[in-house]
Amino acid sequence: MCGIVGYVGPQACADILVDGLRRLEYRGYDSAGLAVFDGKRTGVVRAVGKLQNLVNALKEKPLPGSLGIGHTRWATHGRPTEVNAHPHCSGEIALVHNGIIENHIELKRHLAEEGVKFSSDTDTEIVAHLIHREAKTGDDLLGAVRRALGHVHGAYAVAVMDARQPDRIVVAKNASPLVIGFGEGEMFCASDIPAILPYTKRMLPLEEGEIGVLTENGLELYTLDGKRVDRQPKTITWSASQAEKGGFKHFMLKEINEQPRAIEDTIRGRVDLAAGDVIESELGIDAETAKSLKRVYFIACGTSHHATLYGRFLMEHIAKVPSQTELASEFIGRDPVVGEGDLVVAVSQSGETLDTLAALKVAKEKGARILAVANVIDSAIPRAAHGAFYTHAGPEIGVASTKCFTTQLAAMVLLAVFLGRRRGTLEKERAQEILQNFVEIPNQMRTVLALDDIIRDLARPLAQAKSALFLGRGVSYPIAVEGALKLKEISYIHAEGYAAGEMKHGPIALIDADMPVIAVMPDDKAYEKIASNVQEAKAREGHVLAVATRHNADIGGIAHNAIYVPKVDPVLSPFVTALPLQLLSYFVADFKGTDVDQPRNLAKTVTVE
Ligand code: F6R
Repeated sequence: MCGIVGYVGPQACADILVDGLRRLEYRGYDSAGLAVFDGKRTGVVRAVGKLQNLVNALKEKPLPGSLGIGHTRWATHGRPTEVNAHPHCSGEIALVHNGIIENHIELKRHLAEEGVKFSSDTDTEIVAHLIHREAKTGDDLLGAVRRALGHVHGAYAVAVMDARQPDRIVVAKNASPLVIGFGEGEMFCASDIPAILPYTKRMLPLEEGEIGVLTENGLELYTLDGKRVDRQPKTITWSASQAEKGGFKHFMLKEINEQPRAIEDTIRGRVDLAAGDVIESELGIDAETAKSLKRVYFIACGTSHHATLYGRFLMEHIAKVPSQTELASEFIGRDPVVGEGDLVVAVSQSGETLDTLAALKVAKEKGARILAVANVIDSAIPRAAHGAFYTHAGPEIGVASTKCFTTQLAAMVLLAVFLGRRRGTLEKERAQEILQNFVEIPNQMRTVLALDDIIRDLARPLAQAKSALFLGRGVSYPIAVEGALKLKEISYIHAEGYAAGEMKHGPIALIDADMPVIAVMPDDKAYEKIASNVQEAKAREGHVLAVATRHNADIGGIAHNAIYVPKVDPVLSPFVTALPLQLLSYFVADFKGTDVDQPRNLAKTVTVE
């Protein structure tokens, strides 16, 4: 789980590569490095820690030249040290890699027997030596990389240079993302689109098992077994500034504020209010399939898993189909009973999460129909599925997911209505009502975002807490667990999200004056019950902050403080209750001075199991 970038063209490339790495730092920031060919030889500079350390090192040792590759690392094999930083070199070969070489121990043993000396603990260095060995046979770099990768099992996106062929970069991909950027007389590659978006909008994501040669003249693309591939780049409609902070202090705050727009974009063109229906051609589910569904099975990780908890609620409530949701890593660890007649919905903002991809493959092999919900077009998970539903959140740079989460919630609504209409479980009038209320949600979200000053004040005391408890019931349970995850991942305060009805079965023992309780309690049929649970916490001196519906007169007697959200259709309340919790976590983290956009130990795209 790392970021890679490459450039070939007429310009001095070190700054372009560093600029690309800056936008890839969310993928890992344990170390960074560049390799640039200066006309005679390849110079390499690497530094431990954040990219700024590499920038400082480059001031000491500039790298002139117009052919180069760069890397930002999230350590998997080998500690985050300078020797383990990429690029890795062997002779004239320099290489950057994102992924994991599964058979690295065996390959290392063979190479060691041939007399190869290793200078790092990484799996990546092995690939550099393999290419070097193959390049000795006199073939061009493309052939050497292809033959070397023939020995490799695992996930990789690689970019490779050879100082003896200094007009090209060879790239290859298997299970880790890589996109090619087409400029005028120059070419780029990167782990994702925003990294090179300021330079070109013409992009081509590589597919599994593809290998290509980038020169100033363009891309020659092949399959690993040597067949020529002819695919054209697509034009990306995101602007470069959409991938920048746009005046906000952090990407996360910008992305929280982008949510009304992101929901509008996700709904756009998909809702037919007059017919009370959802139009979506890419789902790969016809009316017959919808009617005959035995079960919906959601698989996802982390925040995406929390979105699927809402998906399960809606499937049962609207589409009346038995539903369950699974953590992808647990799904693959068991022997799940899934197969024909089941719809498996794999939800992933990045579309690259390895656990989710592995679970998807298990379900596919067992005969289930697979639908991907993803934010990144043509990423691994939608490509492996029978159908895809894209959320249109735009690039999310903050590691903690916010706008991707709420657009996933939106996808859950659209999917439930789509299935409910085809299964005959949702009447046209109720569908029209839900969809009409849904298109009004972005404006109600704007009202909630305007509460930021109030929420900032409420966050200040929470920043002193050692631990916090988030409670929800029914449709608000997913929001409580997501609220707890947001707080812990960016502020490092321990937090638990609980179904409020479970309090009396254990967690109530935790409650005392030092335990803030955040209760998600909009005005719906669970309100009376959660109000009792909250009273129980308050009776034990728990300090209660409620996220509640405006004009709810009771709250004053139940909670110490409240954040009031607008009244919406009860099945849609997560869209207005999620936002205050995101803002609360954001302000707590900002008060504590943690690294909001790149919290410790985390990465945006998790391509390890
Ligand atoms: C938390 C967060 C993670 C991801 C998880 C799955 O804010 O973003 O919990 O939700 O790593 O990632 P995706 O959605 O890319 O599969």
